Amino acid sequence: MSAIRWEETLSVGVEVIDVDHRRLVAMLDGLYEAVDADDSKEVLARTVESLLDYTREHFRDEEEVMRRHDYPEIREHMLEHQDLLRKLLTFKKKVDARELDLTLEVMDFLGGWLTTHMLGADKRLGAFLVNRAPAVERS
Ligand SMILES: [Fe+2]
Ligand SMILES: [Fe+2]
Repeated sequence: MSAIRWEETLSVGVEVIDVDHRRLVAMLDGLYEAVDADDSKEVLARTVESLLDYTREHFRDEEEVMRRHDYPEIREHMLEHQDLLRKLLTFKKKVDARELDLTLEVMDFLGGWLTTHMLGADKRLGAFLVNRAPAVERS
């Protein structure tokens, strides 16, 4: 089974963001394990809820950094966040309503969006911060 794993290629070069991303990857991996172990629907629903909460928090923090540094792509980046949150929320509602079983296929979809966003929009933000922000922001 292909659980998502943290690897250095996912690093955006900014430690505060990487710390959050490592945690997100770990949470998603936990969800993979819960699905694989066929844990109860309650456990799955709770795990999805924590993932959603943490994703929200992480997006808020990233958006705060973008505002602080007048990041030129903030609008596009925030739209991607909103879109991802909407998808996660729809997903959570279905899980809560027992309309959807968390399958490995669904997990691949979740792992896919996270990786695509981190490798795309988040890496561009990381590169901007490394060039523009004082060293303290990067550690
Ligand atoms: Fe991120
Ligand atoms: Fe982001």
